Amino acid sequence: MNRVCKILGIEKPVIQGPMVWLTDAKLAAAVSNAGGLGSLGPNAGQTEVTRDPDGTAENMRAEIRKLREMSSKPFSVNVLPVQNGTDIYTPPMLKVIYEEKVPVVTFVGEPDEAMFSEFKSHGIKIVYRSLNPTPENSRMAEKFGADIIVATGFDEGGTLPSKVIGTFSIVPLIVDSVEHTPVMAAGGIADNRAFNAALALGAEGVYCGTAFLMSKESRMAENVKQAVLSANAFDLLLFRTVPAYYRSLPGELANELVAMDKAGATNEELGKKMGGFANLRVGMLQGDMNKGYVSVGNGISHIREILSAKQIIDNLTKDF
Ligand SMILES: Cc1cc2nc3c(=O)[nH]c(=O)nc-3n(C[C@H](O)[C@H](O)[C@H](O)COP(=O)(O)O)c2cc1C
Repeated sequence: MNRVCKILGIEKPVIQGPMVWLTDAKLAAAVSNAGGLGSLGPNAGQTEVTRDPDGTAENMRAEIRKLREMSSKPFSVNVLPVQNGTDIYTPPMLKVIYEEKVPVVTFVGEPDEAMFSEFKSHGIKIVYRSLNPTPENSRMAEKFGADIIVATGFDEGGTLPSKVIGTFSIVPLIVDSVEHTPVMAAGGIADNRAFNAALALGAEGVYCGTAFLMSKESRMAENVKQAVLSANAFDLLLFRTVPAYYRSLPGELANELVAMDKAGATNEELGKKMGGFANLRVGMLQGDMNKGYVSVGNGISHIREILSAKQIIDNLTKDF
């Protein structure tokens, strides 16, 4: 038990980060039942692309209800407002979050005072994670009422920060920047050594994506799990894209992106070629590692077998 556990009503300070296409009720329930906090990310439980905002929100409602049949423990839903431009997906998603009385949101973006106040008025806990954590946006999130702040380093999987600052450097910087809010560490954390290191750096828990992609309960394609098992951080390709960088295991698309990057393509050209999250679905959910890409963090070096979410959490926290 520590502050993070008390705030979230969980037993072990481990959050399974939301991951587009790759989370569902089964994974989130397994994490929450094991004493951590499971999260539903965009398109949780879905296999087909939905463009309709209301349909997308209703799919999330169905997944939340499924999760509640499998677990009575706290869980979170990802809120990712569009930063510049019209956001047609967030309003119906918020309606579902309030109606379904979701206990925690994992909010990704710049701190939003009005939205944070609305979460508070619904009794929802706010886990705040910036794609580009800085002392300024962390302090602002604290001022606006975030309950927990996640400091994410460049070692992570998924959309990478635009500054190349590793987990070891960003965590203590953010810990020292805020006044009273607990900080959790994200990026490359996959075993108990990294968990202990995060705590030594002042974090009060860990926020993991890749480690849970490699769990028995994860819906990531089996061939991709096997490919990740036999890889380490040296195998990961890094390329520029929109907004900044991405990593992938090698494959036709990833190799092409690296070649385009070397040849001086713009980030926009690279982003277009990468094909957004549609090609993450192709690579990681459907398992076509040539037509799609496979985004995982540097922590893969320390994942050597497929374990249950409970075994992963028990291993991470075995010295806690
Ligand atoms: C394949 C993949 C997809 C992700 N998609 C999302 C997402 O949709 N929303 C989000 O807030 N974070 C997303 N993330 C970030 C994770 O929630 C988490 O912050 C990150 O995985 C932590 O780094 P790690 O993978 O090294 O543990 C994604 C990460 C991965 C690996």
